[in-house]
Amino acid sequence: MAELVDALDSKSSAFGHVGSSPTAPTAVMGTYNRFPLTLTKGKGCFVWDNNGQKYLDAVAGIASCSLGHSNHALKRVLTRQLNELQHVSNLYRIPAQEKLALWLAEHSCANSVFFCNSGAEANEAAIKLARKHGHINRGIERPIILSANCSFHGRTLAAISATGQPRYHNGFEPLVEGFKFFPYNDIIAFEHLLNDLEKDGPRVSAVIIEPIQGEGGVNPGSLPFFQILRTLCNKHQILLILDEVQIGMGRSGHWWGYQELQIEPDAFTLAKGLGGGHAIGALLVKENADLFEPGDHASTFGGNPFACQAGLTVALEIERHAVLNNVQERGKQLREGLNKLVKMFPSKLKEVRGWGLLQGLVLQEKANFTASDFANAAIDKQLLVTSAGQDVVRLVPPLIIKPREIKELLKRLNNTLDHFT
Ligand SMILES: Cc1ncc(COP(=O)(O)O)c(C=O)c1O
Repeated sequence: MAELVDALDSKSSAFGHVGSSPTAPTAVMGTYNRFPLTLTKGKGCFVWDNNGQKYLDAVAGIASCSLGHSNHALKRVLTRQLNELQHVSNLYRIPAQEKLALWLAEHSCANSVFFCNSGAEANEAAIKLARKHGHINRGIERPIILSANCSFHGRTLAAISATGQPRYHNGFEPLVEGFKFFPYNDIIAFEHLLNDLEKDGPRVSAVIIEPIQGEGGVNPGSLPFFQILRTLCNKHQILLILDEVQIGMGRSGHWWGYQELQIEPDAFTLAKGLGGGHAIGALLVKENADLFEPGDHASTFGGNPFACQAGLTVALEIERHAVLNNVQERGKQLREGLNKLVKMFPSKLKEVRGWGLLQGLVLQEKANFTASDFANAAIDKQLLVTSAGQDVVRLVPPLIIKPREIKELLKRLNNTLDHFT
């Protein structure tokens, strides 16, 4: 043991003070372009770096820390769970998993839940479910899943194959077969593609689609598009699967993004905000899509007691503190402030798009900076934001953000815009 510690010490000196400086050598694989920041502490909507500098956090672990940082209830419940039992596997019934599944079923259109560890995994489960539906209910040998251009469904091989952005495919071919794409919110193009594929009989098993596209540029779904999409899926006996990984669990101001569109999906996926900063993902299905049998799908850690306690605590705290009302009110306050900024900076900002506390500030094409330049400049104004594509600054603060913190966020956005001449 002592030798191992020595070896690690000598490695960490070879790599500099690990974690202390953003430019120090690192043994972490370079899959991210990281901001020049090392964050070491958080409380509510604020985080601190390793030099003690405080930042207002409108990234929230990429739309994940719904209750903010260092939440009291999460700390209490998760510490108790760690003291009681950490992990047992799905070979046994897990009380916290049963409770969370029941809570989700009682608060959504779904009646059963498969738990996994991330959004991509939840979508993997959904893709397998779609294939099974195609085989057993539609008699299709090689089922096709329809997905939207500019979508994002995660980074596993099937999830990138379902993602309608070629930049995520490049270099990783051959992709998983059986995905076809249509322009988001374009019902004529969708119907054309569907009719063309189905002209000689059943070929399509499902549509997988975000109610609001997050990574693809914060594009809200259109109500007429989704309503006709629902009708067409019913007509063709195709599963409508919504990827609610980013918007689900309260970020729109309702529990689920599909409520904004006044439809119900056959299945939907969750992750991010469900765990309030802890790893959990879920596939939720209605009875007609409840097709998995023992052995069809599994996950060692999926639905473990710790992750499910996190999910349950997030759900109960959102209810207890009327957080959905807060999201609606703070979302409106943010939106109004962002619209004012668009008026104040017409040569830099084009428009605001989004629902609740997922808002995108769209840059003008002629602006001389990108969304990622903006996110970097915001750091100097003690503000953390992220981008969604080249030209959209994405704002996804914790759902518990207060009125004065929204004011502060708008002030810091204003200061950042002033930075660009
Ligand atoms: C809509 C959507 N689906 C899936 C994912 C993938 O989730 P994860 O990173 O947890 O695998 C994301 C992540 O940004 C997402 O926004």
